[in-house]
Amino acid sequence: FTASENETYRPDYHFTPASGWMNDPNGMFYLDGEYHLFFQHYPDTTVWGPMHWGHAVSKDLVSWEELPIAIFPDSLGYIFSGSAVVDRENSSGLGTKENPPIVAIYTYHDAEGEKSGSNDFQTQGIAFSTDRGRTWTKYAENPVLPNPGIRDFRDPKVTQILNSDGSKEWIMTLAVQDHVQFYSSPDLKNWSKIGAFGQNFGAHGGVWECPDLLKMQTPSGEDKWVLLLSINPGGPQKGSATQYFIGDFDGGIFTPDDKMIRWIDYGPDNYAGVTWANLPQKDKRTLFIGWMSNWLYGQVVPTKSWRSAMTVPRELSLIDVDGVLLLKSAPVEELEKLRQAAIEVDESSKLPSQAVELEAELDGSDAFALTLSNELGEKLVITKEAGLVSIDRTNAGKSDFQEDFAAAHAAPMSWKAENLRIFLDASSVELFVNDGELVMTSLVFPNSPWKTVEFQQGVKEGRIFPLKK
Ligand code: FRU
Repeated sequence: FTASENETYRPDYHFTPASGWMNDPNGMFYLDGEYHLFFQHYPDTTVWGPMHWGHAVSKDLVSWEELPIAIFPDSLGYIFSGSAVVDRENSSGLGTKENPPIVAIYTYHDAEGEKSGSNDFQTQGIAFSTDRGRTWTKYAENPVLPNPGIRDFRDPKVTQILNSDGSKEWIMTLAVQDHVQFYSSPDLKNWSKIGAFGQNFGAHGGVWECPDLLKMQTPSGEDKWVLLLSINPGGPQKGSATQYFIGDFDGGIFTPDDKMIRWIDYGPDNYAGVTWANLPQKDKRTLFIGWMSNWLYGQVVPTKSWRSAMTVPRELSLIDVDGVLLLKSAPVEELEKLRQAAIEVDESSKLPSQAVELEAELDGSDAFALTLSNELGEKLVITKEAGLVSIDRTNAGKSDFQEDFAAAHAAPMSWKAENLRIFLDASSVELFVNDGELVMTSLVFPNSPWKTVEFQQGVKEGRIFPLKK
């Protein structure tokens, strides 16, 4: 491939691999001033294939530098999704106390084993780095968690838990077909099963994948555990999507507060997202990024030398809406650094570039409508009406690559919409209502860049920020 800076649909400020295929974000952690992002990657073509962990770093979550591939497939299999932790106390013995190892925990997918009809082709392995994530060595005794004979046994997300007696424990949350299993380890090498969750809760229209277990606080300061769980298919807009549960977690038992089904993003294109590990002590945020695509059409979208981008990084927090706890996803504040001088919008305005943020204060009527259009008459329509927020990409450009793509997607929002932030890039729109109380992420492939925005209804004040590359 030759990666062309000017390739149509290549985003200006979303992460994309220079070339080849990308899906899930993996193993994100922060260390020494760098946010690391790994990703499911097949460098040889622009469709899914033998998985590697690609790698990128950023100092500010906004501009990314792609580094050489971090982890390559080997005789145990492809390198599927997983996580990474900084093993500060060298509990694994894979580094030293002075130079603690970073340990990646991932799924080995043995494609040959799968072909031969056995069920135990997914196991968990580890690799470690002692040079700030630049090079990785696989643990000689992989796998660390063998497969008990279950298809779909993958995507380990490891987090360290501080028990009430002061002891520390590594907890792995693993996606197992239609539920998650929890494992505990003192050293990241020896794992024992301590619990399971999910068969009687949540959406089950597809296989469960890419879990994440997070300790968060409610607005009133109460501790809660949030379990992110991606599901494919069975999402609210068809295909893949990420649900979450809010509850308590103790000794391997996750107890949800209720039976409500919650989605982290109501658009069609935010999948397999997880959060960053090892943020600096002073940074109390929960930072998330997702794969900005959908398994329904991710492999056939009209990009050329590369396929797929990540969402913008988002800060997760718990909010209380009329007595119901929900997860809010706000664009990280670092994105404001991309803003250039604002252009005030009356009813209609020309867009200065393909990369813009639109910001709007709404008029209190709880209904709004705005339309983006281009020189070809293609339109992207964003509205709220009768309690439903919607993004309509039916006539918004290319869609013939897959029958479900041209569609209007709607999301219920029973409470009042007060403001909007909309991030546009070459081939995506991310809508944050009330700074992320409701989020919709959609891919869109206009045949000519968006030229005009019209605020047709409900906007008191609107502005456009051109965004720096
Ligand atoms: C989710 C997923 C994971 C798996 C990876 C393989 O999109 O299917 O469950 O580890 O992709 O690339």
